[in-house]
Amino acid sequence: MFQKNRVSRNAISSDNKQAWPALLDAGVSLGYQRNIVQRQISRDPAKGTPDGKQNMDRIRIVGGNELNGEITISGAKNAALPLMISSLLTAEPLVLENVPRLADVKQLERILENHGVDIAVNGRRPDEDDMGGQRIIFTANKIVDTCAPYELVSTMRASFWVIGPLLAREHEARVSLPGGCAIGTRPVDFYLEGLKQLGAEIDIEDGYVVAKAPNGGLIGNRVTFPKVSVGATHTVMMAATLAKGTTIIENAAQEPEVGNLARCLVAMGAKIDGIDTSTLTIQGVTELHGATHEVLPDRIETGTYAMAVAMTGGDVLLKGGNVKNLQAAVDVLKATGVDISQEKTGIRVRRNGNGLQPVDVETNPFPGFPTDLQAQYMALMTRSTGTANIRETIFENRFMHVAELARFGADIKVDGQLATVTGVPELRGAQVMATDLRASVSLVIAGLAANGETIVNRIYHLDRGFERLEEKLSRCGATIERISG
Ligand code: UD1
Repeated sequence: MFQKNRVSRNAISSDNKQAWPALLDAGVSLGYQRNIVQRQISRDPAKGTPDGKQNMDRIRIVGGNELNGEITISGAKNAALPLMISSLLTAEPLVLENVPRLADVKQLERILENHGVDIAVNGRRPDEDDMGGQRIIFTANKIVDTCAPYELVSTMRASFWVIGPLLAREHEARVSLPGGCAIGTRPVDFYLEGLKQLGAEIDIEDGYVVAKAPNGGLIGNRVTFPKVSVGATHTVMMAATLAKGTTIIENAAQEPEVGNLARCLVAMGAKIDGIDTSTLTIQGVTELHGATHEVLPDRIETGTYAMAVAMTGGDVLLKGGNVKNLQAAVDVLKATGVDISQEKTGIRVRRNGNGLQPVDVETNPFPGFPTDLQAQYMALMTRSTGTANIRETIFENRFMHVAELARFGADIKVDGQLATVTGVPELRGAQVMATDLRASVSLVIAGLAANGETIVNRIYHLDRGFERLEEKLSRCGATIERISG
């Protein structure tokens, strides 16, 4: 069933087949859309992202305002993506609640539709929070294509993870090697080694990973990752749910998004023990069934807005935020002098004009300080009253924001994986350019506190992972707007 370099859309009617490439480019989805039709949001964040046609919108910020009010935290991108991919494991509908409106979600919808997944998005009811998430139904009744082509996969690394479910259910997959944020080499050796341990035969051909599960499917085994990997844990866990026998994953990632996926798989009939620990034991079953599952709130978005408030001062309730999933970052922010408390409906963050203490940070797998908050924290430390050391231990090339933060007048020295940030009395607004998803938002945070005007160029990375960022911040008093590219 491999269909090399072909973007098939067998899920659409033959009448539409002439028209779909143009519509796809325009960000329109053509899967069966029963019930539906709220695929439009005020601004299409996916505009132009496929096939390298990137959204050239900019963000303009005039810094200096305090943030006050409420921000609704969206569903986590890093949970929504693997959950969506898990729909490939069953012929029955998987209903996901609280799916964020993001370019990466739309892009993954295109990839799943290419495999034959029927996607239905429910409209918003009049009484619903206008910042609430989407309810999307994914039905992979029949996998029509086990190839994930370069054109679709190259813009988003997480789409590589389809290899696990495709191998498990169809016993074959041909998946383009991934792209995504340029934050280091980001190999896939752990994924491939893990799948080989489950009996897969794997070759690399023309930039594609070609995987087969001979002898009627994958076979459970012990998989020990040499280093914690979120993506490899997701992929091998999904594959193991349909393998024959028992799989034990050692040194598994314990990120809350992995637990969120594991709980969804259990709701679909998988047998998984050790959820939220570093050892997952998965007893394979012959098939999975449909389920309804909620995407957990985005801890990285929560931490990002907490840092924005820490930066500008003010008092904001991050609705839906949960300290439990963000303890390391909360501890650090408290040590800098920020007031953070868990309330019934979310996390309240306050800072009232006092100076920020410098606090050293090292990124680590969960429950350590998340690498996805390192850039935002660096922006914050540019305004501390001293010098803070920030060590990045997960990715070897994740300091690209340093040069851009320097445009605001920040004082940062980099030595290998260590950045030394000395606080400066003021940041000055600047023209800056986003280089990856989390780096982009660190520039927004700096702009919110800088004197004068900041223009953040090339914000398509932001749209991949932050839902309606400028709307959420302007509702709290920030002067921030999107300028169409
Ligand atoms: C996921 C997150 C990303 C986050 C990262 C670390 C999603 C969609 N992305 O990315 O936002 O920054 O976790 O928390 O959830 N590695 C290998 N070989 C492999 C796989 C990984 O050497 O086969 C290395 C990576 O280069 C990196 C480290 O392992 O140094 C961790 O990467 P990993 O956890 O796999 O990151 P992602 O799953 O890609």
